[in-house]
Amino acid sequence: MTQPRALLVTGGSGGIGSAVLQKFHAAGWTCCSIDMTSPVGTESYFSVVADLRTAAACRDAVAEAVHHLGRLDAVVNAAGVWHEGDTAATTEADFDRVIDVNLKGTYFVSAAAIPHLEVTRGCIVNLSSDAGIQGNSGAAAYCASKGGVSVFTKALALELAPRGVRVNAVCPGDVDSPMLRGQARDYGGGEQQYYDRLLAGYPQGRNARFITPAEIAEFVWFLCQPEAAAITGANLSIDFGLSAGIFPHD
Ligand SMILES: NC(=O)c1ccc[n+]([C@@H]2O[C@H](COP(=O)([O-])OP(=O)(O)OC[C@H]3O[C@@H](n4cnc5c(N)ncnc54)[C@H](O)[C@@H]3O)[C@@H](O)[C@H]2O)c1
Repeated sequence: MTQPRALLVTGGSGGIGSAVLQKFHAAGWTCCSIDMTSPVGTESYFSVVADLRTAAACRDAVAEAVHHLGRLDAVVNAAGVWHEGDTAATTEADFDRVIDVNLKGTYFVSAAAIPHLEVTRGCIVNLSSDAGIQGNSGAAAYCASKGGVSVFTKALALELAPRGVRVNAVCPGDVDSPMLRGQARDYGGGEQQYYDRLLAGYPQGRNARFITPAEIAEFVWFLCQPEAAAITGANLSIDFGLSAGIFPHD
């Protein structure tokens, strides 16, 4: 009997990571999360608890995950942290945290997964952001980390194409997740005001809404299917047009 396909998700306790786990698990894949905490519903998934800010931690966590899974067909790098604040006021510790989780963790988890993905001709999906393809005022460190993820994705896709491994990035706009709710709490000017300010940036006007984690999971799912064989090295926006260009306000 053939073994079911196997997924590794970083950030599996978060909004997007847990939606990805649910989607793939429901479709019969064997799934493993790597996060600082075990995801809810751990009985359905393997779980490795790790802080992915060092290369050694990434290597050890991927090895443990693959040991549980028995094979590896897809890696979704969804661990991430947000940082907002004036560039001049951003501390070295803040900068290191956002770069180390978002960029360094994505890099070294991917690196550790490569030998296993070569065996299955699998794929990597990195969670970048609209902030990986355009500037977000007041979030320069986060943009630097996601810009890194977006171009890393392209470079790795070229490197691994001859070995049959695809690498893509998904670039969401604002997703209704614990990260977004944390941003709103930290804003200081009232949570609803924060949400209203974000939604005012979308071209849908009164009909603007946040993206759901389940919508991101559907997109990630498609990218991991054979039907997506021609898609590699892509930064794919799922953002209601947020990054499409300038639109006229009333
Ligand atoms: N929510 C959004 O609006 C949005 C938009 C664009 C991109 N993204 C990106 O999507 C990804 C998932 O975001 P989310 O909305 O699910 O956020 P989330 O905060 O709900 O989940 C992020 C997860 O990453 C984990 N994590 C943080 N630091 C870690 C570390 N050092 N080691 C291991 N795990 C760590 C957290 O524990 C958490 O479970 C992130 O990379 C984020 O930057 C989110």
